[in-house]
Amino acid sequence: MVRTMVRKSTGLAASEYSSFLRLFTYVQGYFDERSGYEKLASLLGKQDAKQKTCTNKLFHLAVPPQYYKKIFKHLAHSGLTKACPPTPAESGWTRVVVEKPFGRDLATAQALDRLLGKLFKEEQIYRLDHYLGKETVQNVLAFRFSNAFLEPAWNRRHIERLDLRFWETDGVEDRGDFYDETGALRDVGQNHLLQLLALFTMNNPGTFTASAIRRERIKILRALKPLSLKTIPTHTMRAQYAGYAKLPEVAARSTTETYFRITAELDNPNWRGVPITMEGGKRLPEDNVEVAVTFKHHTPCLCPPDRHDHYQNVLRYRLRPSEGVVTSFWVKKPGTAMVIEEKELGFNYRSAYAPEEFIDAYEKLILDAMAGDQTLFVSTEEIEASWRFIDPIVRAWKHKKSPLLFYQPQTLPRSSP
Ligand code: BG6
Repeated sequence: MVRTMVRKSTGLAASEYSSFLRLFTYVQGYFDERSGYEKLASLLGKQDAKQKTCTNKLFHLAVPPQYYKKIFKHLAHSGLTKACPPTPAESGWTRVVVEKPFGRDLATAQALDRLLGKLFKEEQIYRLDHYLGKETVQNVLAFRFSNAFLEPAWNRRHIERLDLRFWETDGVEDRGDFYDETGALRDVGQNHLLQLLALFTMNNPGTFTASAIRRERIKILRALKPLSLKTIPTHTMRAQYAGYAKLPEVAARSTTETYFRITAELDNPNWRGVPITMEGGKRLPEDNVEVAVTFKHHTPCLCPPDRHDHYQNVLRYRLRPSEGVVTSFWVKKPGTAMVIEEKELGFNYRSAYAPEEFIDAYEKLILDAMAGDQTLFVSTEEIEASWRFIDPIVRAWKHKKSPLLFYQPQTLPRSSP
């Protein structure tokens, strides 16, 4: 049944599809046992000899980060990371895809980079943040830079605030061991939310090339004003949902946050002074991943004499549960009087295109890694800049500079009255 569905979606004939499937092989092994890697190396070696080629190798590490070191060591020892000897046919490449979180702080991210640097060149390393592969996330740049009316208003003169939200109704469930080590800020803040912030505030990269886009994203991450021990208690909040510490593989007295909120600022000419909030967490009241852009009051305003706050627009760029853009705007209510009301103008990605036109984030990213396109992958400079912003917060929390609050599942944590 699944096979038939997949075959139909690829448009391949049944015979083509079966011969394609016959090309797949599976080698089983354990992360920490050398024999599995050796088996794989020998299988690939035989294949190369038979076909007089040099296999392209893409290693995708979707495993807990504590295994990276072992895996890289074994890959190297078994010869899997070595370039092929010259072959008459095309020569193969070796690339590695590493899932987020890349490290657990700046020091471990740098150590991981040093380790990777011994085996691979930067152009072989693909640091994956699956949010960058989502259609709606890729659309941010198209939306911002292909619509002439937005660009002149996209700065501190016209925008009052930016609110980035990553609310999830689901809890941690069976990911206790990963999550308790990671926490909400490292799980979705240091990566997904900071990448979204970069896309929403970066300058026009001029072209869609990896180097131009990454260069602009890095500038934003470096412009994040670091929070200090004095500002962390007022600009950050962390909380844990009731019942979390009872989950399997979660420490009974865990102080890991399942919710965070940060108020940040970018120290650059376009955004200086604009408050940016980023919040995210589990067991929150609704599933809602969005960036809300609140525009300033329009002045002078054609408002009724007693109302001067009339024409504020809020643009919501939604990623979950629906994908699209909704903007509040003001209209004259039909009738004899001049009554102005707030309405919504919206675009829904899923209803605008047929389902088969959408490509899953992982499909897109793995395809890009195979094609050697790093645009939607995170560079080492971006990783370092994001940890430089996050590290002081995590350290201050560890030293109890802001209290760990508790909230009931499916409610929004509140700071103490
Ligand atoms: C992952 C986090 O990176 O993103 C999860 O580890 C989170 O905790 C998930 O639930 C959300 O991704 P998506 O694609 O379901 O919105």
